[in-house]
Amino acid sequence: MNALVELSDAHVVHKARSGGLFTRDKVYALTGADLTIAPGETVGVVGESGCGKSTLAKVLVGVQRPTAGTVAFRGRDLWTMTPGERRTAVGAGTGMIFQDPSTALNRRLPVRQILRDPLDVHERGTKRERDDRVRELMSLVGLPRALTDALPGQLSGGQRQRVAIARALALDPDLVVADEPTSALDVSVRAQILNLLLDLKERLGLALVFVSHDIQTVRRMSDRVITMYLGRIVEEAPAADVTDGSRHPYTRALFSATPGLLDPIDPIPLVGPVPSATRPPSGCPFRTRCWKANEVCAQAMPEFSATSHPEHRYRCHHPVEEGEATRDLVRQSHHSREP
Ligand SMILES: Nc1ncnc2c1ncn2[C@@H]1O[C@H](COP(=O)(O)OP(=O)(O)O)[C@@H](O)[C@H]1O
Ligand SMILES: [Mg+2]
Repeated sequence: MNALVELSDAHVVHKARSGGLFTRDKVYALTGADLTIAPGETVGVVGESGCGKSTLAKVLVGVQRPTAGTVAFRGRDLWTMTPGERRTAVGAGTGMIFQDPSTALNRRLPVRQILRDPLDVHERGTKRERDDRVRELMSLVGLPRALTDALPGQLSGGQRQRVAIARALALDPDLVVADEPTSALDVSVRAQILNLLLDLKERLGLALVFVSHDIQTVRRMSDRVITMYLGRIVEEAPAADVTDGSRHPYTRALFSATPGLLDPIDPIPLVGPVPSATRPPSGCPFRTRCWKANEVCAQAMPEFSATSHPEHRYRCHHPVEEGEATRDLVRQSHHSREP
């Protein structure tokens, strides 16, 4: 496969902060991530807050340098390039959309200037062509011409996110990474923004990495779904298989807890908080909250197991049976917790 981006054994370790000061503790934000994104595909990333989704997203677009492992863009290692080469490869080849458009956009610049900025920085075309491109971008994301000179503060949340999307598309990237792009928006405009992203990726043939803590949204948006837990990728499955086909207990637990299922089920109870990313549990990090965990799980994190589907793999000592209904797991998880 000619990968667009490929992560190999990528790790990100931060220095921990406490009260604004760095401590000697380390935060394991991303651990041993392997991931390949092909041109044109949509990969969803799901997991609870703090599990490393944003870190993974930033590593993919070269904003965050992995502390170990590699990121290759079109087969070339991003971090062995010169800074100039990397700026060109990443700046023009990828676009990133953040959660909160009110902080992601420069509030002093009018829409026109926000959209022109990447074109100016990368010296795309003549002045005239850049003006044309700004108009084209605005129409691409459904922003009325009348807003060309508006400041971000004069726009609605949805309009601001459209500006952020247009900016991410300015240089015609092959890959767009959207990190919780609707979490900060009113519920009423979320669907519009999601539909816009789907429509753009179809029309422009983009690869899209879509990050959200909401597994239902991720499933609907994506071809493939990555589940993360405490800095690790624990499952990778075709979106169509997530409901009753995912094998990792954590993916099932996330799915059982989504509101608004057509056929609602009780959530699988996860006991206790997510452990600290500073002191992750030994073995499988999910074991402290998993109803299936036993001694084996404390000893080692299992390698990926393959399934009958080439795009489906998971890391678990006690996977959910193939085709086992999530509803039945809810019962099972309650039983296993009875004294
Ligand atoms: N710059 C940083 N310094 C220290 N810790 C960080 C930094 N950025 C993220 N982290 C920590 O790394 C972990 C993963 O964070 P993040 O990738 O933002 O998760 P998510 O996007 O899934 O909520 C968290 O424990 C977070 O507190
Ligand atoms: Mg995040």
